[in-house]
Amino acid sequence: MTVAAAREAYPRWAATYEHENAVTTLECELVERLSRSPRGLRLLDVGCGTGRRLVGSGAASATGVEACPEMLAAGRQAHSFGPEVRLLEGDARALPVPAGAFELVWCRLMIGHLPECEAAYRELGRAAAAGGQVVVTDFHPDAYAAGLRRTFRDGEEVLEIEHYVHTAETQIAAAEKAGLVLSAAAEGVVGPQVRGFYSAAGKAAMYEQQRGRPLVLGLAFRRDA
Ligand SMILES: C[S@@+](CC[C@H](N)C(=O)[O-])C[C@H]1O[C@@H](n2cnc3c(N)ncnc32)[C@H](O)[C@@H]1O
Repeated sequence: MTVAAAREAYPRWAATYEHENAVTTLECELVERLSRSPRGLRLLDVGCGTGRRLVGSGAASATGVEACPEMLAAGRQAHSFGPEVRLLEGDARALPVPAGAFELVWCRLMIGHLPECEAAYRELGRAAAAGGQVVVTDFHPDAYAAGLRRTFRDGEEVLEIEHYVHTAETQIAAAEKAGLVLSAAAEGVVGPQVRGFYSAAGKAAMYEQQRGRPLVLGLAFRRDA
């Protein structure tokens, strides 16, 4: 299978990116569990993709930062964002936002696209307000070790997206350097709630093999005061 770097993959995936799958479904459940409610808060979503997770968040202000302009364009076409939503093109390792400006910072399924995670954690820590929360999700290192890959379809072609494994320990160490203290860790595990994705793809047998396997890692941190 062809392996595409994120900067090549997402322009090709942008138009169909919003179709949910087992990973994104488990990821949403995990964020529901780990994240404080965005309602009334200043929310930052780093690597926001189309900005879909900012729709109807209830945040007082919701800022998305995303490296791929095609993803932002697809999001603007698909959603009527409210006036509280601001989407910015930018890099997670040099966020175009002021320090300490957000009570809640999400970084969802993005960190594994970076060869190393320290610079991004430094920026997540910088952007978070004192006492604020940072929630990071990632394709689970155990899933990668078991041979599972992040893929997408572009027409007839199925491509793998380049992914760098950052263990929970590596991420927690990078977060600590950035002034972030771990408050919770959790996993999104294959179960009945995602069975339908496997059945629809004619992969019922694969569901049985993968049942109980963690596909998504979630880490929640508090910004030191
Ligand atoms: C799997 S998608 C997740 C999108 C969104 N967080 C969601 O859950 O719907 C990963 C996103 O990270 C973006 N990305 C990759 N590297 C980035 C970087 N260095 N800075 C900002 N965004 C990046 C990609 O372009 C892509 O839109």
